[in-house]
Amino acid sequence: MDDKRLIELAIEAMERAYCPYSTFPVGAALLCADGTVVTGVNVENAVNGLSLCAERVAVFKAISEGKRDFVRLAVACNAPYCQPCGACRQVLYEHAPNLEILMAGTDGRYKRTTIRDLLPEAFSLE
Ligand code: THU
Repeated sequence: MDDKRLIELAIEAMERAYCPYSTFPVGAALLCADGTVVTGVNVENAVNGLSLCAERVAVFKAISEGKRDFVRLAVACNAPYCQPCGACRQVLYEHAPNLEILMAGTDGRYKRTTIRDLLPEAFSLE
């Protein structure tokens, strides 16, 4: 699974976003250590605070399917690059402290980073 394909899957997922309030679709594609990819989209709600970001949906889907090891996450939106929000960074760190992250726009350009770079000195109970 190369970067380009993972980003394509994140961009394709954007079409399934439920975002009537922000009208800002986000797609995520999480590459698991077993080679499978789990996608996520942002799912919003009329009640403020109940919306979930695409990255967390992807991680929670994957965990609930029994996956525990994650290699790389692509996240895409209609901006030059889609940066995961602070809450998602903490959740990603919990489950994948060595995760690689591809922050993409819909034009296919992207920045490569890591969760450690996005969340230095992350909180952990260990
Ligand atoms: N959003 C994500 O899904 N991921 C991000 O990394 C940033 C923001 C969503 C939340 C909300 O549904 C919409 O984008 C606008 O904030």
